[in-house]
Amino acid sequence: MRIVSVVGARPQFIKVAPVAAAFQRAGHEHLVIHTGQHYDDRMSGAFFRELNIPAPEVNLAVGSGTPGTQTASMVAGIEQALPELRPDWVVVYGDTNSTLAGAIATAQSGVRLAHVEAGLRSFNRTMPEELNRVLADHAADLLLAPTKGAMANLAREGLGDRAELVGDVARETFDAMRSRITGESPVLPDGLRPEDGYLVATVHRQENTDDLPRLSELVATLGSLPLPVVLVCHPRLIARANRGNLELDRDGIHPVDPLSYREMLVMMEHSQGVVTDSGGLQKEAWLLRRPCTSLRAETEWGETLAGGWNALCTDLNDLPRLVDRDLGPRPDADAVFGSAASERIVAVVESWSGA
Ligand code: UD1
Repeated sequence: MRIVSVVGARPQFIKVAPVAAAFQRAGHEHLVIHTGQHYDDRMSGAFFRELNIPAPEVNLAVGSGTPGTQTASMVAGIEQALPELRPDWVVVYGDTNSTLAGAIATAQSGVRLAHVEAGLRSFNRTMPEELNRVLADHAADLLLAPTKGAMANLAREGLGDRAELVGDVARETFDAMRSRITGESPVLPDGLRPEDGYLVATVHRQENTDDLPRLSELVATLGSLPLPVVLVCHPRLIARANRGNLELDRDGIHPVDPLSYREMLVMMEHSQGVVTDSGGLQKEAWLLRRPCTSLRAETEWGETLAGGWNALCTDLNDLPRLVDRDLGPRPDADAVFGSAASERIVAVVESWSGA
């Protein structure tokens, strides 16, 4: 079989890595279309190199834009690429504009579509990611769900007969890297030492970055926490802070450029905790047994909330108390996220193809 994966944003590079390898191991051809949604080397190329992802067959280089123009350019580019690549299946990942574009172009071209990370729901329709994942699920022929909760969500939407529980692919990338970073020390900004303690923070979702009063309050609160904060800056955060003349480099906050996957795991592993609005980091913190405080009203990864290992925070007055909370036992990772998801994905795609 020939499989084409459509990816474009950082979290998707992390997810495609084990899937590409598993299809190749099983003797199938696997090609990548990169939409170019993320284009800075630190957001894209660095991940392809570090995670040994085969170079994209096609790079659409769409770059930034409003959601509508960005998605439309990707749909047009994917639509044009598919007849030449002639895939048996197209695989899309997660919930970004690249996911939605891949889903629309594939469904319209009549090629079979599989969605990895199907069934996650925040139930907050104002998030672009929620809209993207719901639409991708409803367009797809095969829904590859990471958790039992995701399976239940799909059944509720009448999609249960197209859904298969495969486990979480991001966990596989995590496990592979974890075994390589044992004993590594984090490279901390000047003036910070691991033994003194620090928190790792990331902020990039539009509900936190695009409203200047909210972003100012958030940055001020991070700076007032009892431990220093390493703020790993997504380009959207820098752009919005610059636009609002908001200084990120201040007492209590050490801004750093985006880190590679490996650097980020090492940074989190040695920290006292993580404060983030990312979906992926919530899970990586959980796997590393670091308490995570999520700057969001809801999470698609509700399993991480058990025992207080993840906590939701919208009222910033609660943040100092939350980063210092007590923790209960953490559930077993295999029971929650499964294992060897990529092998399972290959087996399921083969059986749905009649192979
Ligand atoms: C996207 C995803 C989000 C995911 C995140 C991971 C959507 C709707 N959102 O958000 O779900 O969690 O990726 O990072 O798809 N930029 C650069 N260089 C880059 C990439 C982006 O400078 O390599 C800047 C652009 O100026 C752009 C801004 O960052 O305006 C936002 O980028 P965009 O791809 O629109 O969304 P993300 O915020 O990255």
